[in-house]
Amino acid sequence: MDSPIHLAVDPAKPVNIVFVGAGAVGCFYASRLHHPDHNVHVSLIGRSNYAALAKGGVQLQTRSFGDYVFHPHAVFPSVTAAALCGSGSKLSTQPRDWDFVVVTTKALPDRVDDAATIAPLVGPSSTIVLIQNGVGVEAPYRARFPQTPIVSGVTVVSAEQICPGVVRQNRWTRLHIGPYTSSADLSSSIASSAEPLIFNVDKNDPLTKRSIEATMRLADWWVRLGGIRDIETLDEVGLQIVRWHKLCINAAFNPSAVLSGGRGNSDMASDAELRFHLKAVMDEIWEAAPRILGRSFPDDLASPDKILQSTDRNKGARPSMLLDWEAGRPLELEVIVGNPVRIARTRGVELPRMQSMYALLRSAQSLRDQYKGKGKL
Ligand SMILES: NC(=O)c1ccc[n+]([C@@H]2O[C@H](COP(=O)([O-])OP(=O)(O)OC[C@H]3O[C@@H](n4cnc5c(N)ncnc54)[C@H](OP(=O)(O)O)[C@@H]3O)[C@@H](O)[C@H]2O)c1
Repeated sequence: MDSPIHLAVDPAKPVNIVFVGAGAVGCFYASRLHHPDHNVHVSLIGRSNYAALAKGGVQLQTRSFGDYVFHPHAVFPSVTAAALCGSGSKLSTQPRDWDFVVVTTKALPDRVDDAATIAPLVGPSSTIVLIQNGVGVEAPYRARFPQTPIVSGVTVVSAEQICPGVVRQNRWTRLHIGPYTSSADLSSSIASSAEPLIFNVDKNDPLTKRSIEATMRLADWWVRLGGIRDIETLDEVGLQIVRWHKLCINAAFNPSAVLSGGRGNSDMASDAELRFHLKAVMDEIWEAAPRILGRSFPDDLASPDKILQSTDRNKGARPSMLLDWEAGRPLELEVIVGNPVRIARTRGVELPRMQSMYALLRSAQSLRDQYKGKGKL
């Protein structure tokens, strides 16, 4: 897509943005988007960290921008409270039409219907923005909101909430965003065609136009106002290509870290059998993605060999799925492993290594939850 355009905000019409999922990624990107001086106002919906956010905002410790405190426009304890706030943060009887609803929760479609959760926030002029790992994350939102622009986002960042209201960004700021207009049910298990997925690329379609404009506005604010230099806008297929490329890393390392008994990335890569397995998973995705999306990975995206080389250098990294497993939290298993297997299958492509990891880890998670329910863990 074109480079971000400078879009002045109408002083009479402030832009109101709300983040659902005020964790590591949400707080970091929210803090770089909030610019009241340019009439761009960002609010947060807190949950377990609500009290800390409401009291002191978000303390950020960042490698890229130093340490600072982000005071959001408003902090809400729930979606309902954010939906019913009128101008400012006063409660109203009319649901509010937020301009942008940014979802930065963990993507857990097997546990919670986040599209239903955010419904009270979405009005006729809203755009939904999803910054989450995995593929097929957009489908439930498109199904529930057929006419709402969706901007899909993939980030390469290393960030963590080290205690409520304190977020540390360790490295990277990379964010790819692009429109998502497809109405295809990407996660249907019915084999429909061996053809690549067809995305709507009609730039004159009103939904496409609004989605592209929303993408460009966000990129402009994050780059020009927020100082994040490596925001990149992509077209619809390009953004999905980046999602599948990130999957090479996430789907190879995350499930394997749990299934290997709790090993970090470079530790796994130093074991010859595990290295063979990691490379084979990445190769499986690398070969499948162009058949599914109808476009090859561009040359500037790292190949499986390059990903392994950089893993060797990045000692100590432990994938988020392993941290979630160790903490007894739900895993982003469906969007990182289950959806790719199902989406590939609809295009007549099998991902046998991914399917094996999916079956094993899905079972392990289910048994863990059953034992936990019976108080045996
Ligand atoms: N962290 C990274 O470095 C990184 C890098 C690249 C991509 N990602 C991806 O980015 C996404 C977000 O990850 P993250 O690391 O930021 O996760 P996180 O730190 O766990 O943050 C998620 C936040 O969402 C909140 N939340 C969940 N459901 C909610 C609801 N219904 N209402 C209000 N708040 C809700 C959680 O609240 P509670 O605390 O109450 O549960 C938590 O604060 C994931 O898809 C992840 O894979 C993360």
